[in-house]
Formats: sequence, C-alpha cells, structure tokens
Amino acid sequence: MPKIMDNVHRYFATTVGLITTKGSKHGQNVMAAEWTMHVAYEPMLIAIFVHESPTYWNIEETRVFGVNIASEDQAELVNIAGGYSGIEIEKLAIPRTFATQWAKHIDVPMIKGCSLNAECKVTKIEKIGDHIMVVGEVLSARFDEKKFPLIYTRGNYRKLSRSKIRSGRKTVLITPAQMLQFKKMFAGQFVLKAAAAIIKQDSSILLQKFGDWWVLPLVIADKGANYKDALEKDLPSIGVSASVGKIRGIRRMMLKAGKTELRANFITFDCKFKSLEGSYAAWFARPPKNVVLRTLFEKP
Ligand SMILES: Cc1cc2nc3c(=O)[nH]c(=O)nc-3n(C[C@H](O)[C@H](O)[C@H](O)COP(=O)(O)O)c2cc1C
Repeated sequence: MPKIMDNVHRYFATTVGLITTKGSKHGQNVMAAEWTMHVAYEPMLIAIFVHESPTYWNIEETRVFGVNIASEDQAELVNIAGGYSGIEIEKLAIPRTFATQWAKHIDVPMIKGCSLNAECKVTKIEKIGDHIMVVGEVLSARFDEKKFPLIYTRGNYRKLSRSKIRSGRKTVLITPAQMLQFKKMFAGQFVLKAAAAIIKQDSSILLQKFGDWWVLPLVIADKGANYKDALEKDLPSIGVSASVGKIRGIRRMMLKAGKTELRANFITFDCKFKSLEGSYAAWFARPPKNVVLRTLFEKP
C-alpha cells in the first residue's frame, strides 16, 4: 500500500491548465497547473493554485492570466510547461513547440490547440497552505468542440473514453394513458422526483388511485422541500393519515410508452398507518400487477 499522505494527489483526476502570463521582469511564460478549476458561474470565475514562481510573479504584477486547458494531443506541451521553470528557459520561445495567439482582452499569449481558452482578470489572491490561490474573473472564453481535455491522474496523462456511462435506470414500459397521467402530475420537470409511501397493515398494502390504476401513495415535493415532510403533509389529501419513517430505498426508472420516455426517481419511505377515509386509497392483500409497482417493491 503506497503511503497515503504522499500520494493523495495521485488519486484525483484533473484536467491540466496551461497558465500563460507576461510580466516586465520574467517575460512571457507558460506553466502547467492541474489545480485549475471553474469555481463560479456569475461572475464566471476560475481558480488556480500555484507556488511562487515566474508565473505567480507575473500575475502579481499584471493581475491577469490566461487559462488554456490542454487537449489530449498536448501531453508533451504539458510536460515542458510543467518540467521547466521560466527562470531556466524561455519555454514559449522553443521553436515549433507552443503555437500561440495573442489574447483579445489582456496582454498575454494564449496557447492554440487547447480544448478551452479563457482570459482572466484577478479578483482575489490568497495563500492556501503551501500554495497561493489566484481567482480570476473570465473576461472572455472560447472552446473547441472537437478537442477533448487531457486527463492527469496517477502521474500519467490519459485520454477520456468516448463512451458515456449508462444511467442504470430500469426501463419500465407503461401505457400511453399512464404516461399522460404521470406527465400531468409531474408537469414540466426534467426528472420526475417523487416520494412514495409504503404503508402496510397485516399483510395488506395501501395504494392510491392514479387514473385507472393503482400506485403507492406518492407526492412530488417542491424543489428544495424535505421529501418526508412533503409526503406526510400530502397523504391526508387522499384521506390517509400516517407517520412517515425511514427511507426504504431509491428506484430510478425510465418510464416508456411507445417513443415517449420519462425519467422518474422514486424515494420510498416506510410509514406507520394511522387512519384512512374516502375512496382515493384502498388496501390490497395482493397488489395489482403493474410494472411501476413491481419495480418499486423489487430488491435493488
Ligand atoms: C501535470 C502537471 C501539473 C502541475 N500542476 C501544478 C499546479 O497545479 N500548481 C503548481 O504550483 N505547480 C504545478 N505543476 C508544476 C509547475 O508547472 C512547475 O513548477 C513549473 O515549472 C512552474 O512554471 P514557472 O516556474 O515557469 O512559473 C504541475 C506540473 C505538471 C507536470
């Protein structure tokens, strides 16, 4: 087992920023910084974490810097930018190595062939442990859709796989009428997020009428609202009183009716029954066969 404190940084996976600067004493420069990160949308901010070196001194003097996120075919450039200091050699002057283009809003060279280029103006400098955090507001940015960022992890440069990780949602076929019902209930949400109550008594389960079929009593909590409270508050609207207990599980489904698809997440809660009135909910000794219900009960 490698010594963890010496190796923690190896187990992150980062992109690598080629940080470009120009100062009166140290001239034009480029360094590699894996600790380069987009940290706010409004204003758009990028933070870099650097040590005292020509890059930092240039930034301290001019209060501007360029962030150029290295693309997969730029591992060699990253090696050079990170392997030599501007004190040792003028990295950007090595022939046929860094292709540059002058920035539009700040007086620094930008690196061509990157996946992203951002021109930044310093808004904050703060010492953080043995590094210095420099936060820059993005004055302008452009990206190249065709270039994928180089990934740095475990001391190696790697390529991102082009395959996406499958969502793992279980596809559940429902009827068009049921789809309509769900869409009506979950109006306009990107992912339908519901809390569902599992209320059992003797060996029966309480279900709610939902159009012409039966499902677990469920509620759509408003964004940011507590699911347990929302469920407890909503159950009386179908004549059910119950105390909502612990989360039993989460089921992520892709509801499908013909070509229409709907992502749905159900958080199920074990509840303690108190009382039942009206006909919106009813006890079932054997729950009717519908796939949504079956999926909600399935062990993951
Ligand atoms: C892949 C890679 C990532 C690096 N990330 C950082 C970093 O995030 N922060 C930092 O201070 N140095 C980092 N370095 C080291 C600097 O790039 C290196 O010290 C460089 O020589 C500094 O350039 P300068 O002295 O011309 O300013 C990294 C080096 C490599 C190879």
